[in-house]
Amino acid sequence: MATIAILQGKVIILGVCGSIASYKAVDLASKLTQAGAAVDVIMTEATQRFVTPLAFQAVSGRPVYTDLWQSGPPGGESGLPTHIAHVGLAERSDLLLIAPATANTLAKLAHGLADDLLSITALAAQCPVAVAPAMDGAMYENPAVRANLDVLRARGMHVIEPASGRFASGLSGRGRLPETPTLLGHVRRILGEQGALAGHKLVVTAGGTREALDPVRFLSNRSSGKQGYAIAQAALDAGAQVVLVSAAQHLPLPIGARLIAVDSAAAMRAALLENLHDATALVMAAAVADYKPASVSRQKLKKKAGDMSLPLARTEDILLSVKQWRAKTGDPKFVLGFAAESENLRENAADKLQQKGLDLIFANDISAEDAGFQADSNRVLALDKHGGSHKIELSSKADIGAYIIKRIIELLA
Ligand code: CTP
Repeated sequence: MATIAILQGKVIILGVCGSIASYKAVDLASKLTQAGAAVDVIMTEATQRFVTPLAFQAVSGRPVYTDLWQSGPPGGESGLPTHIAHVGLAERSDLLLIAPATANTLAKLAHGLADDLLSITALAAQCPVAVAPAMDGAMYENPAVRANLDVLRARGMHVIEPASGRFASGLSGRGRLPETPTLLGHVRRILGEQGALAGHKLVVTAGGTREALDPVRFLSNRSSGKQGYAIAQAALDAGAQVVLVSAAQHLPLPIGARLIAVDSAAAMRAALLENLHDATALVMAAAVADYKPASVSRQKLKKKAGDMSLPLARTEDILLSVKQWRAKTGDPKFVLGFAAESENLRENAADKLQQKGLDLIFANDISAEDAGFQADSNRVLALDKHGGSHKIELSSKADIGAYIIKRIIELLA
């Protein structure tokens, strides 16, 4: 797994309660560690019936805290008895995440009880605290549990909603611990909250639009939407409020983004104009169709003898509409576009920058196999409206997303 910039150098206390979902926390500890965080695990006594401290130690490479009264873990940096060490733990962490959080631990947190290392650490914590409840569906719906969660929310704790599905009991309902990627997304959102784009709204478009021909067919392009989603994630990591207007298919939504799913260029344009109000920036990463079938058949087109030609009509250029909208309203403050080119990259991109009234444009050479559409990596030439240019050699789309967000932060400064 690749490292994640926002997790580099962060210290996360992962509190693990005793639940059939405890084993999932081992994977979470592993992924957080691989992504670059230092993970200090605190296990409740019940957890140790489901998983061993050794499992967490092996994946985190750090001591695991299990007992309030035991001496500090061998090689532990404080060497203090654990019941004092927790204060240090709670003070120097960036996040305390309790996953899974049982009904019992939630009740303790809501009432300020402090009878084990995890509940004491939660009371002493100066950092954000997040809980991911996991329990049987009926327990989760119980008014006592709901009331405790309301208390925790009101005190500013982050409550990560459980997923629905099948429980170990065979019953189904809501109360399952979300999967690791979802939990990681919540961790990123919480750590990013105070980032440089906190309080700013960013609208990002992604994916290739689809222009219907008949009920079963459409015209589209090879865009996967991955670059737009990576930009949305980088914006969330920087604390932005993100609206993702997406024509992409089957990509997991970055946690915290608001999705507006669209299909055609016309639908994307309408969704954008409705959501640009008060936006700091628009990043137009979508591959928008320039042409659509001149008419849409209500019935499936039947094949006939011989060739067929298909009349096409122009779609509207969304960025030109945004240019007009911006001239009227002043929103969004910054508009960034992309240029997909197979030749004359710099010249064509510079023309688009100017004609579409952009602040920045990122040009892709779509003829390269290791970059651009579908790939996980990309190579871009960034041009700004003052004539500046910067080339980014082959990088992950996540890194390019982070670079684009860095440029927006610079524009704001
Ligand atoms: N774009 C748009 N509306 C369209 C077509 C493109 O807003 N109908 C946006 C894209 O999202 C991108 C930028 O314009 O940010 C450039 O898109 P690109 O496909 O590279 O260029 P086109 O303007 O479509 O021109 P051409 O196809 O002739 O290269």
